[in-house]
Amino acid sequence: MRAADYEHMDLLLPETKEMLDSNGDDRIEYLRTDKWIPYPRANQILKKIEELLKEPTKTRMSNLLIVGESNNGKTSLVKKFWRSHPPSDGLYEDAYPVMYVQAPPVPDERRFYDAILTVLLVPFRHRDAPSQKIADISYYFNKIGTRMLIVDEIHNILSGSVPKQRAFMNALKNLGNQLAIPIVLVGTKDALMATNTDMQISSRFKPEHLPVWRLDREFVQLLASIETTLPLRKPSDLATKELAQEIYRLSEGYIGEIVAVIGEAAVVAIQSGSERITTKEIKESGFIPPSKRRVITELESG
Ligand SMILES: Nc1ncnc2c1ncn2[C@@H]1O[C@H](COP(=O)(O)OP(=O)(O)OP(=O)(O)O)[C@@H](O)[C@H]1O
Ligand SMILES: [Mg+2]
Repeated sequence: MRAADYEHMDLLLPETKEMLDSNGDDRIEYLRTDKWIPYPRANQILKKIEELLKEPTKTRMSNLLIVGESNNGKTSLVKKFWRSHPPSDGLYEDAYPVMYVQAPPVPDERRFYDAILTVLLVPFRHRDAPSQKIADISYYFNKIGTRMLIVDEIHNILSGSVPKQRAFMNALKNLGNQLAIPIVLVGTKDALMATNTDMQISSRFKPEHLPVWRLDREFVQLLASIETTLPLRKPSDLATKELAQEIYRLSEGYIGEIVAVIGEAAVVAIQSGSERITTKEIKESGFIPPSKRRVITELESG
């Protein structure tokens, strides 16, 4: 069969369409590559981050805090933003507009600066004074035009005592002031607690929530968008009521699980030759909803 013969191919992304004639293994590999699927809430937040990046420098820069449940697309979203402002070669103005780092596993100011200096490829010693590290960061950010700092996994800092958390958040806020760039924090809803250690800080980080999905029209639209990325030779019509309900039940509304349920069912569809996802392929994939997986893990660990 030639690509021209697949009835639903105009509903697929161009790159997905090109995969249709590939063998099963190649299509399964393609299925497993990360793809960005847009949805309204993500677009809104991306727009907010974009506005922040465009904001002119002022003494008190605005910041953002992106909060959501685990496995619900926070990291994917900020990485998508990062990719739309990619670093370019060379050491010149605007070479590295947006920096992405993860918060250290404990609220330790020095380790946080180390993480940034590591991305910058600047040699440092862990025991160097924080003021020295900040001066280095400031120098290099200026040199390569870094205008925004994204700090993921900010809930990590809750592993320390409250005074340590507070000190860390203060250091973050001061770094933003000193560099005169906006900071975007990203974390689970526990991260809200971290910023709430201090009014001064919570008022500087405006939370934007990435809620768990509900079984509504937007969810069905998301399923239709995901279907455009599936290299299956027949249409599945994921947006039909029965399939949407089943995917919702198994995913419990987390985008990571939604993508996973559909991906695993698509693998079954390719391997069995059925080439479409129905409740049968979903069942055969043996997908277990996240809450049940947690119970099983707890039971197994005694
Ligand atoms: N917009 C999207 N398009 C396609 N896939 C997505 C999208 N958002 C999330 N995913 C999928 O969901 C998975 C989980 O998303 P992500 O890692 O961004 O969640 P998270 O909220 O950062 O989770 P955690 O709190 O555990 O860090 C990703 O690996 C990716 O496969
Ligand atoms: Mg994440």
